[in-house]
Amino acid sequence: MEIIYTQSALKEKRNELKEKSSQIGFVPTMGALHKGHLQLIKQAREENGIVVCSIFVNPIQFNNQTDLERYPRNPENDIELLNPYCDVLFMPSVQEMYPNPPNETYHFGTLETVMEGHFRPGHFNGVAVVVKRLFDIVLPDNAYFGKKDFQQLTIIRKLAADYNLKIKIQAVDTVREDDGLAMSSRNSLLSPQARNVAPFIWQTLQQAKSLKKEKSPPEIKKWVEDQFNKNKFFTLEYAQLVNAETLEEVTQYNQAENSVLCVAVWLDNVRLIDNINIV
Ligand code: PAJ
Repeated sequence: MEIIYTQSALKEKRNELKEKSSQIGFVPTMGALHKGHLQLIKQAREENGIVVCSIFVNPIQFNNQTDLERYPRNPENDIELLNPYCDVLFMPSVQEMYPNPPNETYHFGTLETVMEGHFRPGHFNGVAVVVKRLFDIVLPDNAYFGKKDFQQLTIIRKLAADYNLKIKIQAVDTVREDDGLAMSSRNSLLSPQARNVAPFIWQTLQQAKSLKKEKSPPEIKKWVEDQFNKNKFFTLEYAQLVNAETLEEVTQYNQAENSVLCVAVWLDNVRLIDNINIV
């Protein structure tokens, strides 16, 4: 694996590799890698002749300075994990990625105003800025994103469609710990006690899904809210049952071919998100 730090060197390497192999798979990350990230990278390895990964803790997608400062970083371990699967690792500095303050603005309509977009203003614009810039340098054939960040995946699909990008956005299922907790770089910030109760998130989502036959979408939403409100360890930010494509709220099951129940919760000062496919 070759590690590259500048955009110009990456462009050069990309063109050199593209001459030798037909398909480039790209996995953008913010590092502190875990098995969830590795699943994306392994899939990219299976489906492409060349695998490019990036590690960049993108400051402009953090709407909270403390969250950015606390974000876990572990580059040596990341490099070791990536080495068997990845051909090129791009690790730019903030200065390299943003020599001037970025001022691009992206619009995604409802997709960016609900759920994460509502509670983290500016977050998806920051994600779109960095992903579009990375796409423009790497020019991959396939790019891999996790379903854990369901709204992000929807927005990246829209970005690719709006700009007519020749990149296939590949969605990868959420990888979970044995007890069901969705793997996340932020899990390492949980105290042992919080880590113990964290599987409650996935258990609640699964139970909510099992109530589909007896409860309407608003009743399911209310039921999930009640479960978190009754549990003293959690503060629920939102529970939303949405159309998987438009992210509009589903109030009747026939409003969406696929609907997804998404939650964001605070546990031990750590913000965690998860979701489950309902229909
Ligand atoms: P990061 O949180 O590092 O995640 C990188 C990719 O890994 C995302 O596509 C995310 O959905 C996926 N991922 C994380 N946990 C996962 C899990 N448990 N199972 C499956 N996939 C998982 O998402 C970002 O970084 C950034 O917003 C980024 C897209 C890199 C732009 O800065």
